[in-house]
Amino acid sequence: MVIPGAGARPGARDGPAAALDARLVRMFTATALAGSKPEQYAQLLDQARALMHGEPDRVANAANLSALLFNSLPDLNWAGFYFFDGQELVVGPFQGLPACVRIPLDKGVCGAAARTGTTQRVEDVDAFPGHIACDSASRSELVVPLFRGDALVGVLDLDSPRTGRFDADDQAGIEAIAGAFVATL
Ligand code: SME
Repeated sequence: MVIPGAGARPGARDGPAAALDARLVRMFTATALAGSKPEQYAQLLDQARALMHGEPDRVANAANLSALLFNSLPDLNWAGFYFFDGQELVVGPFQGLPACVRIPLDKGVCGAAARTGTTQRVEDVDAFPGHIACDSASRSELVVPLFRGDALVGVLDLDSPRTGRFDADDQAGIEAIAGAFVATL
């Protein structure tokens, strides 16, 4: 990632100056992820933290995270957020085809993640009772619930056109990135 001006001043990555730099990002250059899968997720987490640094707006951060994940991870057809409005999940910032707008907590993989507070890693969406097919290309899905303390914020949802696309490394990596998002709220 290129942050114009960052590094021009000693200590520019710390304190208020760094927060200002993060908000002034004008060009994002994707750095190729390298190494083992956990190492790649560590790099992606660093990129996610840099994108959100000093920015508390959840729509802005969710939008940039969706774009980062969708463009950095292979074999995805949807990456984005649903936010809890106090009653059901409502689609938020995402990348991919237009999606279902509202998901009740007793429906779908997203509802299950939100209702149970546990990540749903679904190898084959056709085998998941109640799966909601927003995009018929989706074959597997990873949904991480977002909680601020005890309060449900929403879910982070990744869909893949490949059966069994997500493994335990993906789950750990996406849960860490979801945690970094929640920490900005
Ligand atoms: N498949 C999800 C619905 C959301 S879309 O995949 C974007 C579900 O079953 O909850």
